[in-house]
Amino acid sequence: MQIKSYKMESIPPSLGLFLYEDDFSNLEVLGELKTLAERLLKMENFKGKEDTLAKVLLVKADQVISLYAVGLGKKDKADLDTFRRASAILCKRAKKDKVEELTVYAGDSLDYKRSKAIAEGLILGDYSFDKYKTKKEEETVQIKTVNIHMGNEDGIRVGTVIAKGQNFARDIVNEPGNVINPITFAELAKKTAEEYGLEIKVYDEKQIQEMGMFALWSVGKGSSTPPRFVHLTYKPSGEPKDRIAIVGKGLTFDSGGLNIKTGDYMRTMKMDKSGACAMLAIMTVIAQLKPNVEVHGIAALAENMPSGTAYRPDDIIKAMNGKTIEIDNTDAEGRVTLADALSYASKLKPSTIIDMATLTGACVVALGEYTAGLFSNSDELSEKLLSISKETGERLWLLPLDDKRLREKIKKGPADVVNSGGRYGGAITAAMFLEEFVDEGIKWAHLDIAGPAYFKEEFGYYTRGGSGFGVRTCVEYILSLDST
Ligand code: BES
Ligand code: MN
Ligand code: ZN
Repeated sequence: MQIKSYKMESIPPSLGLFLYEDDFSNLEVLGELKTLAERLLKMENFKGKEDTLAKVLLVKADQVISLYAVGLGKKDKADLDTFRRASAILCKRAKKDKVEELTVYAGDSLDYKRSKAIAEGLILGDYSFDKYKTKKEEETVQIKTVNIHMGNEDGIRVGTVIAKGQNFARDIVNEPGNVINPITFAELAKKTAEEYGLEIKVYDEKQIQEMGMFALWSVGKGSSTPPRFVHLTYKPSGEPKDRIAIVGKGLTFDSGGLNIKTGDYMRTMKMDKSGACAMLAIMTVIAQLKPNVEVHGIAALAENMPSGTAYRPDDIIKAMNGKTIEIDNTDAEGRVTLADALSYASKLKPSTIIDMATLTGACVVALGEYTAGLFSNSDELSEKLLSISKETGERLWLLPLDDKRLREKIKKGPADVVNSGGRYGGAITAAMFLEEFVDEGIKWAHLDIAGPAYFKEEFGYYTRGGSGFGVRTCVEYILSLDST
């Protein structure tokens, strides 16, 4: 799909028209067809409510026009994500109708941010994961071109790159554990780095032990596929304004290990690598947008399996930063792998580390499936991420790290820390565990994306499966470092 900006001169055969609930003035663009369109939309009971769409056919001389009216809701409530969702809903419907060339009219002259959101929505809405269907249901027609009336070219370009990156993350998340394991993920990362001109280092199980990453190694040793550690680097051509690290949890499958999950909870655990997939996607986007910021992308990859070589409850292991961890529950494996990933990231001396992890079911209980938990040791960083998330539409909610009594729960036992603090406040004690492995003086934010990384139903710009959550927010954060 190619998205272009252009100036609409006459009414095209397939037109997506954005309308507010309390302001249908965009209908003016239809000229003499306006009243007809108004009457038809009324018959369809279309009121411009957000996330609604009505298709009506207009006839002008011998020309038939498919008009897709897309609702934006009340004008003062509509934000960037409203435009993103509306564009995705439009794209999904036009695709179903086998439209090959689509035009979007969202008002006269669109600014950078709106144009970007519309481009993102179109590309995210175009996503499907059907490579494993041997029989295609019917010949799928692709939307080849979308013309955005008076779109901002730069916004379209940037939005296209970001959304394609997010779709790339979704593609990897959707691959099952028999296809993507620590070795094949590392191979994919290598291939991707070559394609985008990024530096990459891949450490195998031997080097992982040599570096003292016994936490990652322990989690991975129950699987017949050994762990891997990947480190990608983007260096700008000029003097970087900042240096940051993005860390992603990379469990290519989480069976729970010896504390094995029951069937219902094990299902979908191919998505436990979502943080690592988002990291890889972010690196491809950054390589294309080239901000003046040094970015390190890090993932500790392992498969959590039960076997005779698996790590056990009661085991005590040492992480790369020298701290010892007692294993209470082998299913709290993500934080154990991240202990080494965060220790490694700290050694790079970045100003900021952001990690993304499908870390706890407790976070999903607390916030629901559509909001990620945000934890940070820096108010400045968390406020910035919260304000960016309002524009990216990736919902974040700040959770606390300052509860000293709760922190005690991971400080019990014979080692420095224990890998589970029990049921209550499970997302918080998990975040507190991670904080032990971030060096003093580094600004750090942790996104617990266990809920929104993977959806069981389709809505807005999402389909069932991997969402690529975190890509847009982290990319915008990195870009913002270049503009200040
Ligand atoms: N990968 C899971 C968390 C998860 C749950 C992600 C649901 C996505 C959806 C994680 O490794 C895990 O198993 N966490 C345990 C921790 C517990 C044993 C302390 C959990 O949340 O139950
Ligand atoms: Mn687990
Ligand atoms: Zn896990």
